[in-house]
Amino acid sequence: MPVHWPGRGTIRRRAISDAVEAATSTDGQAAAPISSTSDPGATSPGASAPGASAPGASDPGASDPGASDPGAVTKQRGKTVHGELANAGHRVLAPDDAEVEAYLETALKAPSPARSPDDRPGGSLAAGMDLAAPDTVVVLDFGSQFAQLIARRVRELHVYSELLPHDTPWSEIERRRPRALILSGGPNSVYDDGAPMADPAIWSGRVPVLGICYGAQLMARELGGDVLPTAKREYGPASVSLTGDDGLFAGLDREQPVWMSHGDSISRLPEGFRATAQTDSTPFAGLADTSRHLYGIQFHPEVVHTPRGRDVLRNFVLGIAGARPTWTPANFIETTVAEIRARVDAHARATGSDGRVICALSGGVDSAVAAALVERAVGDRLTCIYVDHGLMRKKESELLRATFEANLGMRLVMVDARQRFLRRLAEVTDPEEKRRIIGDEFIRVFEEEAAKLGRIDFLTQGTLYPDVIESTAPETKAAQKIKTHHNVGGLPADMRFQLIEPLRYLFKDEVRAVGIELGLPDAMVHRQPFPGPGLAIRIIGEVTAERLETLREADWIVIDEIKAAGLYRSVWQSFAILTPVRSVGVMGDGRTYANVVAIRAVTSEDGMTADWAKLPYDVLAKISSRIVNEVPNVNRVVYDISSKPPATIEWE
Ligand code: XMP
Repeated sequence: MPVHWPGRGTIRRRAISDAVEAATSTDGQAAAPISSTSDPGATSPGASAPGASAPGASDPGASDPGASDPGAVTKQRGKTVHGELANAGHRVLAPDDAEVEAYLETALKAPSPARSPDDRPGGSLAAGMDLAAPDTVVVLDFGSQFAQLIARRVRELHVYSELLPHDTPWSEIERRRPRALILSGGPNSVYDDGAPMADPAIWSGRVPVLGICYGAQLMARELGGDVLPTAKREYGPASVSLTGDDGLFAGLDREQPVWMSHGDSISRLPEGFRATAQTDSTPFAGLADTSRHLYGIQFHPEVVHTPRGRDVLRNFVLGIAGARPTWTPANFIETTVAEIRARVDAHARATGSDGRVICALSGGVDSAVAAALVERAVGDRLTCIYVDHGLMRKKESELLRATFEANLGMRLVMVDARQRFLRRLAEVTDPEEKRRIIGDEFIRVFEEEAAKLGRIDFLTQGTLYPDVIESTAPETKAAQKIKTHHNVGGLPADMRFQLIEPLRYLFKDEVRAVGIELGLPDAMVHRQPFPGPGLAIRIIGEVTAERLETLREADWIVIDEIKAAGLYRSVWQSFAILTPVRSVGVMGDGRTYANVVAIRAVTSEDGMTADWAKLPYDVLAKISSRIVNEVPNVNRVVYDISSKPPATIEWE
């Protein structure tokens, strides 16, 4: 039975490679913010992080003349701790994101992995292989923050969807053999100088096209219609009357609540088009030329505030375009495993090697799923390396060992490097210095262990789809994205391995669905994000074995109670921080002077903004009393009620 792949945003911070993943990546994600469903388009306004989820509160995907400047992203880019441009001109970075910059700084010194533009799941066209490549819908990105969401919505229909820059030449688009094109919204006006355009060949009628918002306006204007600023902008909920009978609105009531977010409107239809929808202030909220398979809608079907938006997309993708819904975890696993096996075997034959593969496990979902996939393909030719830096949460290392060694029977090298890390972290209090040391030591340990294994041909890396599009398609940066997806691909320049990146087509939720299908434990697949430097950046001040133990116990209680309350998946992160403060207390008859532990729980869509979670008082009370009673040397618990911004999620 096909597994549904729910959508949700991702955040990932990467550095040197998957080899470094364990030390540098945020792995595992919460499923949904409190009181909301599980994706950015699915959150009710105000339900969680401010600005994170309410499309239309400010929707950069909508036409808003003058509201945005695509160059703004460039201006906002931060510097690394060493003063270099943090994203080397091709990565979006939150300007205040000092933490990740430290890793980037190291990582940017190395080249990105080469990826073929012809690469597709289930078959590499470049290699002449076509292992049942799935039907594909290409989404052209005109800068909307929701462009990725459109791709994810299509994938929820079990149709593979790929995001390409708006100006991708037709030859490139055609090579992907798309069943349909969807044009995203965008912050520009189509009549602006330098407004993002598409290759005119997309209008030829060879492939059905659906334009959304800016995409619809572009379609109208490019084909001879007019687009003008509206007297009355439409932002937020609107009611649209559907008049078209062309299949796009099949099965929908004629009056539909939709989400609008535009300052321009189509004022005259191009020849051959008919109006298919209207609102009080927008006469052409929908347009179609069925003879050329061209469709446009002014509203946003991808956001949850358009309740039947998924049906509109379904009608287009499965109905009008006739795409086959074969993009399922089971199919993905089958084709990916076959492809990895074929590649490794071919390499082994050509080089006379054994075709051995390594993978660094971080404890997070990405490296776990990547390793499990590769293991299915090559069995014990895969060796996983797990560097236990001693900064993990309670029982995480045990779960990893049980899963990979006992359950999957994998070759797993668990390196006990706890003392090495502790020694190097002694007396270090500066957060950036902690990060640098941890990243550096991780690489050393990993390299030492890899060297012991003899000849290795491949390195498995848990690169995700957002990482790939953001590191290979700089044009999509025209989007006013303020996210921090970083796959810097900074493998050491003299790297001996070829890369296997089995997750490079997947969004985070899809990775989880694959993980479940592969039989990985829920606790691993649905882990909350955890920073690469681990508990070291949740101990304010020096990291010692004793303080680590205190924090680990307190943190365990937080997670335990959050899970018991059924909140684990609805908060983005929930954890304890060991503060450097000691305070006076009274226990029994005695006066105490002990540690203050802070609790942090946040809701968020992507980690970029976050709101403190309004945890029920009884849950907080239980956490507090358990920590004070069960964790030695703690006599006070406080709850962090800061949002991000201005605070960050982590304390360091
Ligand atoms: P902040 O603290 O910047 O965190 O609001 C945003 C998200 O990133 C995670 N984070 C890190 N992840 N290495 C990582 O791999 C880091 O150094 C790091 N610092 C923060 C944090 O847990 C949250 O999910």
